[in-house]
Amino acid sequence: MKHCSDGARSGVARLFEPVDIAGLSLRNRVVMAPMTRSFSPGGVPGPDVAAYYRRRAENDVGLIITEGTAIDRPSAANDPGVPHFHGEAALAGWTRVLEAVHGAGGKIWPQLWHVGALRSASGSWRPPQPFESPSGLSRPGRESGVAMTEADIEATIDAFARAAGDAKRLGFDGVELHGAHGYLIDQFFWDGSNQRTDRFGGATIAERTRFACEVIRAVRAATGPGFPICIRLSQWKQQHFPARLALTPDEMASWLQPLADAGVDVIHCSTRRFWEPEFEGSDLNFAGWAKKLTGLPTITVGSVGLTGEFVASFGGEKSEPASLDELLRRLEREEFDLVAVGRALIANPDWARKVREGRFDELAAYDRSILAELA
Ligand SMILES: Cc1cc2nc3c(=O)[nH]c(=O)nc-3n(C[C@H](O)[C@H](O)[C@H](O)COP(=O)(O)O)c2cc1C
Repeated sequence: MKHCSDGARSGVARLFEPVDIAGLSLRNRVVMAPMTRSFSPGGVPGPDVAAYYRRRAENDVGLIITEGTAIDRPSAANDPGVPHFHGEAALAGWTRVLEAVHGAGGKIWPQLWHVGALRSASGSWRPPQPFESPSGLSRPGRESGVAMTEADIEATIDAFARAAGDAKRLGFDGVELHGAHGYLIDQFFWDGSNQRTDRFGGATIAERTRFACEVIRAVRAATGPGFPICIRLSQWKQQHFPARLALTPDEMASWLQPLADAGVDVIHCSTRRFWEPEFEGSDLNFAGWAKKLTGLPTITVGSVGLTGEFVASFGGEKSEPASLDELLRRLEREEFDLVAVGRALIANPDWARKVREGRFDELAAYDRSILAELA
């Protein structure tokens, strides 16, 4: 298998050229995708977590988006090994991570996370208080925890803002809000989980962006101008893969424009396969449409450099290294600005360096057994 044709080599150069995104200078366009590892007992990321991220930074990753890290709400996390982004010990742990990444010349954003009604697919651990979500539903007809009161919603918005304020104070280079994959922010977007009749609900996707917009405005107020705010979005929900929030470009505009107006700087478009067209009649992917509709920089993700997608990989399917030609073709035509790489960077801490140096034959396959260790 040839991983990059001769014609695509200029695309590799483009992948590794420096770029400014929302005022942040990155040494290249390679982003480490946020990936939960559950190696932070008590919510505190230790020296092993710092070394794990450092390894990617010292091997040329331009921007690291950390695994989802829980905001200060009792049921924000659904797994005891997920790091917190609040409390003295956890923030001291994150400072160690930050210093490790900066020391290796990388940039880093924490991914701020609240799981909403979604319990962990593996394990029976439960948080100290019931899961909370727009309507106490993880999907239509599936009750989980409690519906949030307006006071809960206000406190949650405040918790996102405090986490972002702490990220800025500690020296992080921006923040990403986890608004994808069927977790809390996405539960507000999706009519399958948001059946509220107050101002946080509504029949249209535009109305159901209110929670996310209030989070973004509060995060902006806590961080001030010039601090990059990214939101990660997906059409699909892990509790219902066929779900789609926007069936047409117009509907997508009414989902994304309010977020842009609220002050978000970057949109991270989560798909399982980056090459799939988002709508009929054009081969643009989700990140391509998001960029075209809002004019904001976007991040693409999904099976970059691998043969199989990540959901099947959780079920045991192995993913082999794959050609980058199609990715580089799309990057060349400026369909998106940054490229997030997930499992390939777990299997190859030096993925970016090997790709930059054309050492494709040295890339390792991904298999879920690699997750047992934080290497
Ligand atoms: C082990 C693992 C953990 C993940 N955890 C998160 C997470 O915390 N937040 C998130 O937004 N996505 C998470 N994802 C999704 C990845 O960020 C990424 O979108 C997905 O793996 C597809 O990219 P890939 O095909 O390059 O792996 C996770 C994926 C994996 C494999």
